[in-house]
Amino acid sequence: MSNTRHFLTLMDFSSAELQQLIARAIQMKQEFKSGKIYEPLKNMTLAMIFEKSSTRTRVSFEAGMNQLGGHAMFLSSRDTQLGRGEPIEDSARVISSMVDVVMIRTFGHAIVETFAAHSSVPVINALTDDFHPCQLLADMMTYVEHRGDIAGKTAAYVGDGNNMCHSWMNAAKQFGFHLNIACPEGYEPDAKLMKSLDSHITLYHDVHDAVKGVDLVTTDVWASMGQEDEQKIREQAFKSFKVDSAVMELANKDALFMHCLPAHREEEVSAAVIDGPQSVVWDEAENRLHAQKALLEALVTGLH
Ligand code: CP
Ligand code: NVA
Repeated sequence: MSNTRHFLTLMDFSSAELQQLIARAIQMKQEFKSGKIYEPLKNMTLAMIFEKSSTRTRVSFEAGMNQLGGHAMFLSSRDTQLGRGEPIEDSARVISSMVDVVMIRTFGHAIVETFAAHSSVPVINALTDDFHPCQLLADMMTYVEHRGDIAGKTAAYVGDGNNMCHSWMNAAKQFGFHLNIACPEGYEPDAKLMKSLDSHITLYHDVHDAVKGVDLVTTDVWASMGQEDEQKIREQAFKSFKVDSAVMELANKDALFMHCLPAHREEEVSAAVIDGPQSVVWDEAENRLHAQKALLEALVTGLH
């Protein structure tokens, strides 16, 4: 199990490997769109364990695995023994003995780490409370397609210091850009992670300071999955952290707007911005498919 390669955060691949993965995803997208059939994962199975809701992640992994010639199996915690308290370690041993790759969306990040430690096949983090690395593969791919290399650029993440923020922070290091983070006091990203990525990030408590002259603006929901009870308190805390046209005006003229989706129009982002000309949110969503196909190929057959 120790030789098995996992993708739990962006730090599990080197910068060079991530660049290669993005280039491969762009190539696979073009080939797929030109009608090429490519089935390197024929007869293989992806187990998809979901303990939280999903639209994009489920559809992209399931469609992607099918397109690669394999099969994807949807496992909800509601109707597996995982949801009834079977230990993660036991579940990992059993599930990984029958499939070729596993994808997990869950709460605590330690759950995917424990699963990976006891899995005989690659494990992919499809979102935990702390990280969402698959989303960043699609986001980096989208930036490259629209603007070229992101190295040396500056991005602004506006909003909660959550799983998306943490993965943007990791991306800043791995892809060589600077990340300005604007969040309300009390909603900062993880202190340890901030310290370790100190030279790649700058923390602000004012949106306007953070977005001045940046090449990309991104945001996320104010209350993530599992925080539904905090929705009202968070609406108050985040009310001056909405990305609207006035905020986008402060960024570079050709700055892109990104959002992992699902979005709440007129909460974290105005309809004018998310549905406007700088927004690339639909490309980001579609690129989940292509980026994850490249990831599945890399984890199961090696980097191409
Ligand atoms: N962005 C994202 O992961 O979307 P889903 O929650 O719909 O999978
Ligand atoms: N931060 C959000 C991302 C959803 C894709 C959440 O965890 O709910």
